[in-house]
Amino acid sequence: MFNIAVLGSGRGSNFVALAEYIKTKDLPISIKVVISNIDGAPILRRASEFGINSRCIPHNKFTNRDDHEKEILKELTKYDLDLIVLAGYMRIIGGEFLSTFRNKIINIHPSLLPAFKGLNAQKQAFEYGVKVTGATVHLVTEELDSGSIIDQECVHILGTDSLETLTHKILQVEHTLLPRVVERLAEEKLQNEVNKGEN
Ligand code: GAR
Repeated sequence: MFNIAVLGSGRGSNFVALAEYIKTKDLPISIKVVISNIDGAPILRRASEFGINSRCIPHNKFTNRDDHEKEILKELTKYDLDLIVLAGYMRIIGGEFLSTFRNKIINIHPSLLPAFKGLNAQKQAFEYGVKVTGATVHLVTEELDSGSIIDQECVHILGTDSLETLTHKILQVEHTLLPRVVERLAEEKLQNEVNKGEN
């Protein structure tokens, strides 16, 4: 099994797309826990609907980021995790969290990085007037939205698009991009284990 955890702050549509993909394809991937930093975030309810363990660890109950992340780490280290997926997790990650799971944390971002980092990437792209934007899955590092790019997919901005239609088109792309990346990373890891076993 390839064990993952998902962190999100809101709606959780990327989590749902991933959980459905795993279920439909009967992949050897197990979502061990879903964690949110926001009380009552829909992603927590969506996790329960899939029968997946969920935990809310609100950042505003802690006086600093380190303490909040330590609490998240305490939960994550209960599982033998291969990957942590940030799916709409609107917090910067650092310190011990990052060093414990270095190269094992990925994030989905709604632009073609390195363009339009940070919040409201779809709006940034729309207002800039680019003709092509998209979605990126990348490794998480200390620097916001700057880790190695794992995969990307583009979305054309048409003259008829509004910010709403563009955001929707990007989200649709995210919903197939993220599951594909997770599937590929799982395949690579599980194949490596088979190869090691053969040596
Ligand atoms: C997604 O569009 C994701 O790319 C974005 O938040 C949305 C979460 O939606 N993430 C970022 O902007 C991170 N910088 P969801 O909760 O429905 O998956």
